[in-house]
Amino acid sequence: MSVLVTGGLGYIGSHTCVELMNAGIDVVVADNLYNCKKSSYDRIKALVGRDFKFYECDIRDAEGLSGIFENESIESVIHFAGLKAVGESVEKPLEYFDNNVTGTLILLDVMRKYGCKKIVFSSSATVYGMNNVSPLVESMEVGGVTNPYGRTKFMIECILKDLYTSDNEWSICLLRYFNPIGAHKSGTMGEDPNGIPNNLMPYITQVAIGKRDHLTVYGDDYDTHDGTGVRDYIHVVDLALGHVKAVNKVAGESGLFIYNLGTGIGYSVLDVVKAFEKASGKKIPYEIGPRRSGDIATCYSDASKALNELGWRAERGLDEMCEDSWRWQSQNPNGYPD
Ligand code: NAD
Ligand code: WQD
Repeated sequence: MSVLVTGGLGYIGSHTCVELMNAGIDVVVADNLYNCKKSSYDRIKALVGRDFKFYECDIRDAEGLSGIFENESIESVIHFAGLKAVGESVEKPLEYFDNNVTGTLILLDVMRKYGCKKIVFSSSATVYGMNNVSPLVESMEVGGVTNPYGRTKFMIECILKDLYTSDNEWSICLLRYFNPIGAHKSGTMGEDPNGIPNNLMPYITQVAIGKRDHLTVYGDDYDTHDGTGVRDYIHVVDLALGHVKAVNKVAGESGLFIYNLGTGIGYSVLDVVKAFEKASGKKIPYEIGPRRSGDIATCYSDASKALNELGWRAERGLDEMCEDSWRWQSQNPNGYPD
């Protein structure tokens, strides 16, 4: 039996494939290669030392997906496939709703057709919206999301909850990620954004290798310890290991489960800059700019539910996240090869 990993060649998916296979779980990947390179497949194989099946398939292609369920023995699905750039989603809402929401509906329909009712879904801390106060707890009301990307995550959460209400045989795990950064210790896998990075860590690493001349810090007048935005950064390998726990959870029992995957600790933009400078030995020039629209001052998790129910906790600290991000970027200045 295998786990179907949609979006499994992307940043979080690739690290998760490695940890699943390291845990002895067979994986089958479906990815349309929209936001990744095929060479990430080779890097995963090299790290785990064995082959696994990859299908170049769009999750909106019901026939293609059905073919995977026909050929493979799929026990459960980890669903990463989706578009994730907040700013782009404001420009292209229809593309985001189509890819993320329609794609998920098609995937769920195919799963149901093949009697596969176990899914782990990549949700996001963004579903807590603008009004909840950190530490964010799973029982808080979600919604109040300010951009189309976040709304796709909120809508998919609603769809999955309704699905479980309609049929209690499903086993559904919603994982709300905080801010994933870092890379595999080997330096062979990491985050490889297209164009100008939207997120803090890839921007910093590109300044460090000389691709960008400075970082713009989006606001230093927030109500935080140094005025810059505070977030809960989590090492991508810890996040990947959270998926191993979650997939075992859905394999073992039916239900609807919701977990934050974060460290429970908030760091400011300037804390991250300092930690990165220490880890890399590189100076990161920065300028203070205006606030970025839609940003909140502080966002970090209460991570105790995942510890209590899954036995999972993030083990890797900010220094290690920075060291590993830097190793990946410095060894792969242009990301994955074409
Ligand atoms: P990513 O873009 O690196 O990976 C997503 C993968 O899905 C890519 O390989 C892409 O080619 C593939 N994909 C996209 N649309 C597809 C489709 N229609 N059919 C098949 N494959 C498709 O992103 P990531 O950072 O690894 O994020 C994975 C998931 O986690 C996403 O759903 C994202 O929204 C969610 N998430 C990410 C973060 C983050 O900060 N990275 C935070 C919270 C949630
Ligand atoms: C972190 C901090 C910025 C870039 C986003 C999505 C969220 C989730 C994770 C997918 C903030 C500051 C950033 C820069 C800066 N993704 N910053 N200069 O906004 O917390 O979360 O990614 O689900 O949904 O919204 O992450 O890395 O963009 O920003 O000062 O060039 O760094 O203002 O305080 P964010 P981020």
